[in-house]
Amino acid sequence: MDLFEYEARELFETHGVPVLRGITASTPEQARVAAEELGTDVVVIKAQVKTGGRGRAGGVKLARSPQEAQARAADILGMDIAGHRVRTVMVAEGADIAAEFYFSLLLDRASRGYLAMCSVEGGMDIETLARERPQALARVPVDPRRGLDQAKAEEIVAAAGFAEADRAAVASVLVRLGEVYRANDATLVEVNPLVKTRDGRIVALDGKVTLDANAAFRHPEWDRYRDEDSDDPLEVRARAKGLNYVKLDGSVGVIGNGAGLVMSTLDVVAKAGEGLPGSPRPANFLDIGGGASAEVMANGLDIIISDDQVKSVLVNVFGGITACSEVAKGIIDALVMLGDRATKPIVVRLDGNAVEVGRHMLLEAAHPLVQLQDTMDAAARRAAELAISERGSNVDLA
Ligand SMILES: Nc1ncnc2c1ncn2[C@@H]1O[C@H](COP(=O)(O)OP(=O)(O)OP(=O)(O)O)[C@@H](O)[C@H]1O
Ligand SMILES: [Mg+2]
Repeated sequence: MDLFEYEARELFETHGVPVLRGITASTPEQARVAAEELGTDVVVIKAQVKTGGRGRAGGVKLARSPQEAQARAADILGMDIAGHRVRTVMVAEGADIAAEFYFSLLLDRASRGYLAMCSVEGGMDIETLARERPQALARVPVDPRRGLDQAKAEEIVAAAGFAEADRAAVASVLVRLGEVYRANDATLVEVNPLVKTRDGRIVALDGKVTLDANAAFRHPEWDRYRDEDSDDPLEVRARAKGLNYVKLDGSVGVIGNGAGLVMSTLDVVAKAGEGLPGSPRPANFLDIGGGASAEVMANGLDIIISDDQVKSVLVNVFGGITACSEVAKGIIDALVMLGDRATKPIVVRLDGNAVEVGRHMLLEAAHPLVQLQDTMDAAARRAAELAISERGSNVDLA
């Protein structure tokens, strides 16, 4: 779960990371009032969107008076930055910058640890720096059991090549950023730029924080980070229905029971699509869990067929506690509930508990959109083929 810069800034403040004052605004008028309240000669108007490269896109502007702050906010509010609409700006105190640095701490799954990255050449696009001058970006592994302590912070600033005179001050900010990471179950804390001001202070001018959604159960306070505007609309709808759905960008809708089975189904669909024109890929992850009632199946199918990118649907169910007959009933009832809204071919593969009864029910119902396949591979192949055929609707019942 990504946070806005102003939310990251708040967490920084809580943990003693030096930041400049900042006030959010959602109208140009509010931005003018915010600039008056800050009262500094220069303020910076910053688009609050969960994507990088705001500066380059024109989403970060200086203003030298409250009137100018209002005008710049009017320019930035409503802008589209890499597909993200700007609904809020942050009006921040202007900093008198002497040098810009880079720091990040992130979860490194490959090493089962954390990785700190740090550079005395901050401000610019860090991917470019990593590519063109990798030696300028220090990478220091951090043991999660020890965390980013004082000794580790000193190691990082030395590896990054900070001037002797700046090392102690920067290291103490890094320890605090490590605390932000640990205390908030983050998987990323990034500051670009971390700056040194002309009066010698080390300040975080920007902040990007990603929280580990797996830890949400122990952070009731994360409710306030809920941000439906930035989420995919289908995911928002699915969440409201209590469905475990993740939107992907392919054309084969997938429904299965059990996260493991659904994950394998995504792989098998991707594999089946590889040799086909346009290489159809899975359109989503959707685990309807055990006990697939007709309602859950209908809700799932409804979400999937509302996705304009979806051309075919694959239902892959292994009957365990929930018998295949229940699942078949779910599919049949779902199609009745959806009526005219069901327009895309549905390939069904059932196996396990009561499979014969389930298949028989589907054959009997003979819905024109539904076809059965015996194996997961065959079903995935069929669904992928249907996703490339121009109109998948007039298919035979296998
Ligand atoms: N409060 C400030 N005072 C002075 N200059 C600032 C301030 N905030 C940002 N800047 C300048 O604007 C540049 C871009 O700001 P920032 O890092 O917040 O956005 P960005 O890097 O373009 O966006 P993102 O980090 O999302 O890619 C900074 O490198 C810095 O030079
Ligand atoms: Mg930045």
